[in-house]
Amino acid sequence: MNHRILGLTVRNFRTLTDTKLPLGALTVMVGPNAAGKSNVFHALEFLRGVSHDGIASALTERGGFERVAFRGGPKPVSRITIGVEGIWSEFASEESPDRYELSVNRRRVSTLEHRLYRHERFTQHPRQDTETSVELKSAAVEVNSPLATDGLEDPAGIDRMASALHRPLPWTTDSPTAHAVAEISRHLSEVRVFDPDVRAARQPSPITSSGRHLEDDASNLADFLKTLQAIRNDKGRRYVWEALLNDVRAVIPQIRDVHVVDTPGTYDHLSIELEEEGLRGRTRLEDASFGTVRVLCLLAIFHDPEPPALTCIEEIDHGIHPHALELLAGRLREASRRAQFLITTHSPVFVSELTPEEFVVCERGTDGASRIPALTPDEVQEVIDASEGMPIGELWFANTLGGGL
Ligand SMILES: Nc1ncnc2c1ncn2[C@@H]1O[C@H](COP(=O)(O)OP(=O)(O)OP(=O)(O)O)[C@@H](O)[C@H]1O
Ligand SMILES: [Mg+2]
Repeated sequence: MNHRILGLTVRNFRTLTDTKLPLGALTVMVGPNAAGKSNVFHALEFLRGVSHDGIASALTERGGFERVAFRGGPKPVSRITIGVEGIWSEFASEESPDRYELSVNRRRVSTLEHRLYRHERFTQHPRQDTETSVELKSAAVEVNSPLATDGLEDPAGIDRMASALHRPLPWTTDSPTAHAVAEISRHLSEVRVFDPDVRAARQPSPITSSGRHLEDDASNLADFLKTLQAIRNDKGRRYVWEALLNDVRAVIPQIRDVHVVDTPGTYDHLSIELEEEGLRGRTRLEDASFGTVRVLCLLAIFHDPEPPALTCIEEIDHGIHPHALELLAGRLREASRRAQFLITTHSPVFVSELTPEEFVVCERGTDGASRIPALTPDEVQEVIDASEGMPIGELWFANTLGGGL
């Protein structure tokens, strides 16, 4: 089944006081510095943190409730909410999506003490015309389902911060609702927020069994490229690697070949070496240019035949020549047929490759809150129609679409 997140809802998390962001196969956010684009990534990363480590740890890792709660407005925020809707159960659809929503409430319990409580709600469609829900509120779990198999063994006495995204509930049987909840949890646990650390990507990477995906910081680049190299079709051709190499050569013409080699002096590390036009010997990735490393990282992600369900990419244009961005945008669109991508950029050239549905203008008001999206796709389309064919990137740069200074 092709799981997809159709939308993200955030309230009072950092600058996102009231954000309802529809997500397509490819969604690209633009807007001034500090508009709140990365805060959208933080919200998704927060849900990933909850699914890995639980709510309390995810909050602690980000400095606690007060640090992540919106600091604007007349009085301190007492509730943050992050939710997603999407297709996880068999009979969910765009019209009737499944939903997950997590609220964390901060309540005063005495003159000196506040306490945090979570309210978690899952809604799914495991049978035709059947909506079921699971709600965790304080110490209670409530399952609302007409299906006989959807019972819990011991619904009482759950921790007030426990999350079913993190630990499965004690279902009595093989329950279809439990299965849908597990799918939401798995999906959110796989969200990747890609923000490569070029310095780390240049270093030899250990050979691991987790070389299946490129890590958030690209620190396993060599190991992941080796994984892509090993993929062969029926005729034994390394078709993924060949396509990736062709793109590398198109974007950085002096690169003739890319090699993944055992790092000299180690048994368990891999390094990347480049063959460059006009140069004797090979260039180690440690000595390659900043943009070369970033291009390798991005192309590795776009050529991954089985990418994680959702990849967020920070500042896709960073360090990359505008002409190269056109090719990368094409590869990104192809990759978005296999998985979902959410991107930030400051490049009008990259934006010009987008359709109005893919383009999200982000702004920040004087009240400190983000406006995301600041324009609907219809409003974007109206501006495009009135411009008589001016590229969307130029319209944005000229400040006709908002998201400028
Ligand atoms: N708890 C909070 N309450 C209100 N604002 C916050 C909170 N935490 C962070 N911020 C604000 O979020 C802003 C940064 O937002 P973000 O990183 O999402 O911007 P951005 O659009 O990604 O910008 P850039 O293009 O520079 O990367 C800062 O102005 C910071 O003060
Ligand atoms: Mg940012």
